[in-house]
Amino acid sequence: MTKARVAIEAGLDWINEIVAEYSQQKWPLIPLVQKIQSEFGYIPPQSIPIIAKAVGLFPSQVQGVISFYEQLYTEPRGKKVVRVCRGTACHVRGAKTVLKLVKQHLGVEEGQTTPDLEYTLETVACIGVCALAPNIVVGERVCGHMNPKKVEQLFKKSGG
Ligand code: FES
Repeated sequence: MTKARVAIEAGLDWINEIVAEYSQQKWPLIPLVQKIQSEFGYIPPQSIPIIAKAVGLFPSQVQGVISFYEQLYTEPRGKKVVRVCRGTACHVRGAKTVLKLVKQHLGVEEGQTTPDLEYTLETVACIGVCALAPNIVVGERVCGHMNPKKVEQLFKKSGG
């Protein structure tokens, strides 16, 4: 059984409690799903019928709202999101190689999360510190002037 599955099963009672709390509000859907995501790291698909019932919508309508917002996730996310910059400055200074190396170290593709739920890998257009290109952001930390050795040092604990 995966960590995420255990977390879901352990958390369904708790999700029911949050849903009951928010169902007292007039327009509870967005704050409710945000609350669940902030506590769980994502919105477990198993919680969608519970949420739908509480707010008087069909599960497909709740799913539609969740799908509309890029900031809402129905799959587990890593503790840290790794964002590799693919902007022009980073691109000309080797972002493609950096991305390839990060993928190798983490063993995932863009948009995927490592099985240990440590990292989710994403790419971004520009993070605004082009002078330090090529850049990646790990969690809140900007890592500039990336090269193969720095990538290795950053992720050596991940076992990748
Ligand atoms: S292009 Fe990468 S930080 Fe601007």
